[in-house]
Amino acid sequence: MEDLIKKVAREIVDAERIVALTGAGISVESGIAPFRGKGGLWEKYDPEEYAHIVTFRKNPERSWIMLKEMLDVILAAKPNPAHKSLARLEEIGKLRCIITQNVDSLHQEAGSKDVIEFHGNNRWLVCMECRKKYRADKPVEEIPPRCECGGVLKPDAVFFGEPIPVDALYRSQEESEKCDVMLVIGTSGVVQPAASMPSIAKRSGARIVEINPEPTMITPIADYFLQGSAAKILPRIVEEVETLLGEKHGS
Ligand code: OAD
Repeated sequence: MEDLIKKVAREIVDAERIVALTGAGISVESGIAPFRGKGGLWEKYDPEEYAHIVTFRKNPERSWIMLKEMLDVILAAKPNPAHKSLARLEEIGKLRCIITQNVDSLHQEAGSKDVIEFHGNNRWLVCMECRKKYRADKPVEEIPPRCECGGVLKPDAVFFGEPIPVDALYRSQEESEKCDVMLVIGTSGVVQPAASMPSIAKRSGARIVEINPEPTMITPIADYFLQGSAAKILPRIVEEVETLLGEKHGS
C-alpha cells in the first residue's frame, strides 16, 4: 500500500488537471450509511418505492419516512479526513474540481470550493407546486413538509426517474474528458450516467485511481486500485503530495 500511495502521489504531482468523482463511501466515516451492500439504505428501503419521482408524487408521506431519516443523519454529520484531504488538494492547486453523487454537502463543509453536485443536494427543499425553495437546515417535524402555498416539499436532490441537472452533466463530461488523472472514491459505479465519467476520462487518456474497500464496476479500468477506507488512504496521499511538492519547490 505505501508503495502504491507513493506512485499515486507522484502521478498527482506530475499531472496538470486532476478531478475527483466521489460517492457515498467517502461519507461512511462521517456516519452516513451508503446505499448498497450490508447496512445500506436500499437494504431497508426499496428505492423504486421510496426514491422514485412517480411514487413520491403518488405517496409523499411514505417517501418522507425514508427522507426524514436520511436528512436527520446528514444534518448531524461532519466532514471526515477524506473530505478534508480533497479540500486541501484543491487548496494546494492539485485538484480542479469534485464531481460528487452525494447530496450531503460535506465536501463544501470541508472547504472544497468547486463541487459539481451530480445528483443535486439535500440543503434545499423545493415546492412541487410553486417551486419556492426552503433551506433544510433543521429537522423536518411534520411529514410531508409543506410550502406556504400548501404544495408538498421535496429535497432538491435527483430522484430515480428524474433527469440529471443539465449544467452538472455537461460540466462533468467536459471535466472528465479534459483531466489527466481521475480519483474515483467510494462509489460502486453502478448508477448511470455518473458511473460513465471514469470511462470518459480513461478514453481521453487519463489515469484512473480508485479508492474503495471493495472492487467495483470501475476497478477493471483503474490504473491504481487502493483497497481500503478513503478516510485513511486520502490523508496519506495528500501528505505525500505535499512532501513531493516541497522537494520540487525546494530544488
Ligand atoms: P453505493 O452505496 O452504491 O456505493 C458505496 C461504495 O462505497 C461501495 O463501493 C463501498 O465499497 C464503498 N465504501 C464503503 N465504505 C467506504 C470507505 N470507508 N471508503 C471508501 N469507500 C467506501 O453509493 P454510490 O456509488 O454513491 O443516487 O451510489 C450512487 C447513487 O446510487 C447515489 O448517488 C444514489 C444511489 O441510488 C440517487 O439517489 C439518484
